Amino acid sequence: MHNPPPTKITVLISGNGSNLQALIDASTTTMPHLQIIRVISNRKQAYGLSRAEKASIPTAYHNLIAGKYLAAGEKDPSAQLRGREKYDADLADLVLADSPDLVVCAGWLHILAPSFLEPLIAKNVPVINLHPALPGMYDGINAIERAYADFQNGKLENGRTGIMIHYLISEVDRGTPILVREIECKSEETLEELTERIHEQEHQIIVEGTAMAIIKLWEGRNGSPQK
Ligand code: GRF
Repeated sequence: MHNPPPTKITVLISGNGSNLQALIDASTTTMPHLQIIRVISNRKQAYGLSRAEKASIPTAYHNLIAGKYLAAGEKDPSAQLRGREKYDADLADLVLADSPDLVVCAGWLHILAPSFLEPLIAKNVPVINLHPALPGMYDGINAIERAYADFQNGKLENGRTGIMIHYLISEVDRGTPILVREIECKSEETLEELTERIHEQEHQIIVEGTAMAIIKLWEGRNGSPQK
């Protein structure tokens, strides 16, 4: 499918938004069918919100701590669980209110619970995530740092880490990969240099992976075989 129909996406961010910016740039150049209809952040100061505003994309700030979900410093585990479940359920409502075709997590640093994923699955809205590691290697945060440390200790298999775009499921960073790119570590390289190289590659992968997910989405809707 060379020219997919206009496709509405919501992007979830938590920080700088350089991967969001790659999607914004693609939507005005190589991917004219890509319509970013909302950017949602769980951090008020996320620079990605400014990037969205500059591109006239509607934004939303969905706040967990010290908001209506979780009092700052809440220690009771059951209150924490209840607060997070309600937060995720309301995030699903917020996302679905815009009727996106696809949700892209681009540096979204909050583990999404079934109370978020299930309503989206019910509406056939896939969620994809960018993770700077190879499938099953370094789930969760600080993936680059952990791969670098293993490489320095001679424990990184084949001396390679990587980046992937995968479907998001409740098990952190374990959904079916859509696109995987290996990154060869270099012995004389600092962590900052590896991180910079990975970020540069991420900005390509986020666009390529989103383009692939969009094609799979429309193939699924048109009933044609998914490659
Ligand atoms: C990226 O490195 C992403 O892999 C990680 O957080 C970073 C987000 O960067 N989860 P940005 O906010 O897109 O610039």
